[in-house]
Amino acid sequence: MSAVDHVSRSGKPAVVAHRGASLEAPEHTARAYELALAQGADGLECDVRMTSDHQLVCIHDRTVDRTSDGTGIVSEMSLAQLRELDFGSWHADGKPAQILTLRELLTLTLDWRRPVRLFIETKHPVRYGSLVEQAILETLQEFGVATPPSADHSRAVVISFSSAGVWRIRRNAPMLPTILLGETSRVLRGSAATAVGATGIGPSIETLRLHPELVDRAAASGRVTYCWTVDELADVQLCAELGVRWLATNTPAQVREWLVGV
Ligand code: G3P
Ligand code: CA
Repeated sequence: MSAVDHVSRSGKPAVVAHRGASLEAPEHTARAYELALAQGADGLECDVRMTSDHQLVCIHDRTVDRTSDGTGIVSEMSLAQLRELDFGSWHADGKPAQILTLRELLTLTLDWRRPVRLFIETKHPVRYGSLVEQAILETLQEFGVATPPSADHSRAVVISFSSAGVWRIRRNAPMLPTILLGETSRVLRGSAATAVGATGIGPSIETLRLHPELVDRAAASGRVTYCWTVDELADVQLCAELGVRWLATNTPAQVREWLVGV
C-alpha cells in the first residue's frame, strides 16, 4: 500500500486544507499551502480560474477585489497584471503575497516530503468554459499525474459543482478521480454522480447534517464522500462517525488535533 493510499484508509477522514490553512494565512497563497503542509494536511484544495492569456491561477472569486489590493475580473486580466497585485496584505497576518498559478501549486504539492493530494475545483460558469478543464488536464499531464494507476493512488482530484464539467473530465481522463459537489442533497442523492461517472460526492457540511444517509448511499455505489467546509468539533465528529473519506477545513491543524480524540 502506498503512502497516498494509507492516508485515506486510516479509518478517519483525511484532512484537506481548504484554500490552504486559510484561517491563519491568506487563502490560495503559497504561505497558506506551505503552512497547511507543515501542519500535516493530507490534501490541499484550490479553486482555479483562467486569465485573459489562458493561464490557470488559484483564486476563488470572479474578481480580485476581496483578496488583493486591486480591482478587476480575473478572466479579463493577464497573469502579468495579476502578478503586480498583493494577495496577502488584506489578511490579518498582514504580509504581502503573490498570486499562485496551478503549476506553482502543483510543484509545491508534488515536491512535498510526503504524498499529498491536490483537489482542484473548477469554477462555473466561466468565460472560458471547457477550456479550463482542458488546461487543467494538460497541466496534470505535464506533471505526469493525469493517468494514475487507480483513483486511490492519484495525486490530483478534480472537483466541481458542474456535472457537465465532471463528465468532460471523466471522458478525457478516465483514471482521474472526480468529485461532484452539491449544495443540496437533491443533486447528490440522485443518480447525477453515477451518470457523470464521479468517483465521489461532495456535500457541504450543512447538507450532511441534514442528510447523513448520503455517505452510505454513495458508498453503496462505490463512491467516497468529500465534505466541506468542516471547522467545528461536532462536525468533525459527525464526519468521522459517518465514514467521510475527505474533510475540507480552513483550520487543518485544529482538525487534525480533534481527530486524534474521535
Ligand atoms: O471544497 C469545495 C468548496 O470549496 C466549495 O465551495 O465556494 O468554497 O469553493 P467554495
Ligand atoms: Ca473551492
